Amino acid sequence: VNSRKLRIGFTFDARASYVIKPGEPEDKYDEFDHEDTIADIEKALGSSGHQVVRIGGVRDLLSKISAGEKWDIVFNIAEGVDTRNRESQAPMVLELFNIPYIGSDALTMGMSLDKAIAKAVVSAYNVTTAPSLRVSRESDLGQFRLRFPVIVKPNAEGTSKGIDNASVVRDMKALKARVKKVLEEYKQEAIVEEFIRGTEFTVAVIGNEEPVALPPVQIAICGNADLGDEIYSSERVKNDDIKYLCPAPIDKALDTRLKAMAVAAYKALGCRDFSRIDFRVDEQKKPYFLELNPLPHLGLTDVFPLVAEAAGLTYEELLVKIFDHGVVRNKI
Ligand SMILES: Nc1ncnc2c1ncn2[C@@H]1O[C@H](COP(=O)(O)OP(=O)(O)OP(=O)(O)O)[C@@H](O)[C@H]1O
Ligand SMILES: [Mg+2]
Repeated sequence: VNSRKLRIGFTFDARASYVIKPGEPEDKYDEFDHEDTIADIEKALGSSGHQVVRIGGVRDLLSKISAGEKWDIVFNIAEGVDTRNRESQAPMVLELFNIPYIGSDALTMGMSLDKAIAKAVVSAYNVTTAPSLRVSRESDLGQFRLRFPVIVKPNAEGTSKGIDNASVVRDMKALKARVKKVLEEYKQEAIVEEFIRGTEFTVAVIGNEEPVALPPVQIAICGNADLGDEIYSSERVKNDDIKYLCPAPIDKALDTRLKAMAVAAYKALGCRDFSRIDFRVDEQKKPYFLELNPLPHLGLTDVFPLVAEAAGLTYEELLVKIFDHGVVRNKI
């Protein structure tokens, strides 16, 4: 879309820059990107003919801004650190210094990272989510009216942090124990959600004025697309038990439904340029929104290369397309 050669800044958080301190959860920095992922994205963006320069995380961004470094636009995948505002840190700084950037703004990042808030917002736009209860302290379970089984998740994490097979509980005793674990170990609220048995999908959406859903990806675990009680967890990813099916072997009706819900959720949360939305579908084929990721994993080992192929694009072309959406939006 642009004949002028742009200088693209690239903000990211590298896994290698952080060390787990004693007492911190083992998976604290699991959402941070590995060097391979950073290099994949850098190379794909470079295929646009523009110049890509690495910035690093938000602190690097601040020191480079202070040193007078300039970029025409920044491609941001920085996860940030610590609080539920972590993903908002880089967009906020970029906005403060009037630097155009690719990807969602601070408010979208904040709303999406907080699962209970994201669910409340998309529900208001008629996107179905599973009944849930937000729990700040154990006594909040006095309000528990959900149907077992339920899943207990940290309210503001991603990358399946704090989620394993024991997250799915079938009685009050197990529920209390698991809620306690999340409150204490992850030092944050828990969200307790009715467990949806069935199948699972993730749908990438790109664009702005008229966002478009790309072909849905179905999740298979240990060779089964019918997941039953199985869940997607980092344990499963590490053991190579997860397969991504794209194009998903589903009928037209479900394909259309998932895409429509993904676009509705994307608009409801005010996403920009790209995002990925996770769904569970019950045995009656009814989809439920689980969460929206405005910073999905964009590397070659995740779903984006498959989604690109199913959409008739190369991986590089898809990343450049996302970049171009941001360039057009910023009127560069
Ligand atoms: N209500 C639910 N019913 C059934 N399974 C669920 C439910 N909520 C979560 N899961 C399972 O747990 C997994 C992780 O949940 P979720 O996507 O909400 O968390 P996350 O850690 O933010 O995910 P990601 O790894 O995509 O960042 C889902 O992919 C799904 O397999
Ligand atoms: Mg998810």
